Amino acid sequence: MTDRPRLTTSSGAPVADNQNAKTVGPHGPVLLEDYQLIEKLAHQNRERIPERVVHAKGWGAYGTLRVTEDISKYSRAAVFKPGSETEMLARFSTVAGEQGAADAERDVRGFALKFYTEEGNWDLVGNNTPVFFVADPYKFPDFIHTQKRHPRTNLRSATAMWDFWSLCPESLHQVTILMSDRGIPTDPTFMNGYGSHTFSLWNEQGERFWVKFHFKTQQGHKHFTNDEAEGVIAKSRESYQEALYGKIDGGEFPKWDMFIQVMPEGEEKNFEEKTGWSAFDLTKVWPHGDYPLIKVGEMELNRNPENYFGEIEQSAFNPSNVVPGIGFSPDKMLQGRLFSYPDAHRYRIGTHYDTLDVNKPRCPVAHYHRDGEMPRGLMTNPDAYYEPNSFGGPVEDPSVAEPPHRYAGDVDRYEFRGKADHYSQPRALFALFDEGQRKRLFSNIAGAMAGVPDEIVERQLAHFTKVDEAYGAGVREALKTAKDQASLSTSHAAE
Ligand code: NDP
Ligand code: HEM
Repeated sequence: MTDRPRLTTSSGAPVADNQNAKTVGPHGPVLLEDYQLIEKLAHQNRERIPERVVHAKGWGAYGTLRVTEDISKYSRAAVFKPGSETEMLARFSTVAGEQGAADAERDVRGFALKFYTEEGNWDLVGNNTPVFFVADPYKFPDFIHTQKRHPRTNLRSATAMWDFWSLCPESLHQVTILMSDRGIPTDPTFMNGYGSHTFSLWNEQGERFWVKFHFKTQQGHKHFTNDEAEGVIAKSRESYQEALYGKIDGGEFPKWDMFIQVMPEGEEKNFEEKTGWSAFDLTKVWPHGDYPLIKVGEMELNRNPENYFGEIEQSAFNPSNVVPGIGFSPDKMLQGRLFSYPDAHRYRIGTHYDTLDVNKPRCPVAHYHRDGEMPRGLMTNPDAYYEPNSFGGPVEDPSVAEPPHRYAGDVDRYEFRGKADHYSQPRALFALFDEGQRKRLFSNIAGAMAGVPDEIVERQLAHFTKVDEAYGAGVREALKTAKDQASLSTSHAAE
C-alpha cells in the first residue's frame, strides 16, 4: 500500500479491483451484481450537461478587481469602495459555435464577469462590443436561430444571417464591428469588454445615475485576419484556451482598466432630443465626447480554475445579479435577459445552481428556498422554514432599499425599427477606419456573403450605402472580386 488515498465507491466502500469486471469464468459473461461497474458506466452517461444555448465554447479564470478611484458619489456599492479588492471570475466565449467550435472563428466574444462582493454576487454579463444586433428581446431567439444550424442541411447558413440582418437594420452597427479587424481577437486578453446595456448606479442619498461599464485591455488590441485565423484553426481549435491558461499558468496576468460613463437620471430626455437615440437602445453607444470615460480601477486575471467542468462549464452568470448601489434600466433587452439567464441555469445546471462553489456568494446567504434537486446547505435553521416566523429566521433589511424607478407611459407594443436612425453610429465607426481597415472590412463581408441570393445582398448593400457611399461601393467591389476569383478557379479546374 502506498500513501495515496484509498479508492472507494461513491458510498465510501473500499474498492479491491478497479481493472477487471466480475465475470463467470475468465471470458464472461459479466454479472449484474458488479455494481461498481454499473456505477462507473451510469456516471459516465451523465457526465455531460446541456451546453449553453448560446456562448457554448468558453475560457475562464479567476482574478481581482482593484478599485483605485472614488465613485461613491454615484454608487453606494461596497464593491466600489476606494481601495477595495474583490475576488472575481471571468468567462470569455464565442456566441454561435458549439462546445467543440474552433476558438479563432469570427464572432462576437462574450465577456462575462462575476464579482464575489461582500454584499452578494454582482454579475456583469457583457460582450467585447459595446452594442448588440437587436434592440428588442422578442428578436433574440430569431437572431440566434440565424447563427445556429439550418434545420434541413444542419449547416450554418449565410443566407439566414444576411436575410435577418438586412431585414433588421438596427444590426448594422454590430455587424460592422463584427466584420472589422476586431471580429477575431487573437486571444481574449487582447480585447475590451463592455457591459453594453445601460445599467444604473444609486448612491447613499438615493440619487440614480444611468451608467455604461467599460473594460479596456492593457494588453492592446491584437486580431487575426481571416487568412491568419484559418492558419491557426488548421493547427489548433483551442488557441484561446491554450493562450489564456498558458499565460496565467506562466505568471503573465492580463489586466483591464475599468471605466464608467455616467448620465444623471432625467438627462436621458435631453439625450434623446439631441441625438434622436434612446439612451437605453442597445444598438447605440453614448459618444465619449458627450459622456467621457471615468476611471474606476483595474481588473487582473491571476488564477486558473482547477476543474474546468466544475468552475467554468457550471459557472452561471445572471444579469439579474446586482447588489445594493447597482440597478437596472428600462432597456428592453436587459429586461428580457433578467428572466432568461436564471431560467437557463435552472434547466442547464439544476434548481440550486447557485449553491455550487463557483456560483456561491462569498458572503452569508440566508433565504427560504427549500428542497428540490440537490439542495446544498440550505437548511441552517429547520424551524424557520417560512416567513414571517418567530424562530430566528432571516429578516429583510430596509436600509438597502433601492430608490424608486420613475417609469410612466401607455402600455403598448412600440414599433421603433421604421423610425430609428440605424446609420449615424456605424458611420462614426466607419470614419475611424483607415484605408487598410476598410479594405479588410469589405473583403470580410464579401467572404461572409458567399452563396447569399442577390436580392438579400442588394438589400444589405443598400444599408451599407446609407452608412457611407464608400462602404456600399467597397463591399460591392469586393463581392465582384470574390466572384471573379471563384469563376477563375472553376475555369482552371475545368481545364
Ligand atoms: P471615439 O473616437 O471617442 O471612440 C472610438 C471608439 O471606437 C474607441 O472606444 C475605440 O476603442 C473604438 N474602436 C476603434 N476601432 C474599433 C473597431 N474596429 N470596433 C469597435 N470599436 C472600435 O468615438 P465615439 O465615442 O464618438 O464613438 C464613435 C464610434 O466608435 C461609435 O459609433 C462606435 O461605433 C465606436 N465605439 C464607441 C464606444 C463608446 O462607448 N463611445 C465604445 C466602442 C466603440 P479603443 O479605445 O479600445 O481603441
Ligand atoms: C449566455 C440569453 C443578450 C452576453 C446566454 C445564455 C442565454 C442567453 C440563455 C446561456 C446562459 C447559460 O446557459 O449559462 C440571452 C437573451 C438575450 C441575450 C435572451 C437578449 C434578450 C445578450 C447580450 C449580451 C449577452 C446583449 C452582451 C451584452 C452573453 C454572455 C453569455 C450569454 C457573455 C455567456 C455567459 C457565460 O460565460 O456563461 N445568453 N442573451 N447576451 N450571453 Fe446572452
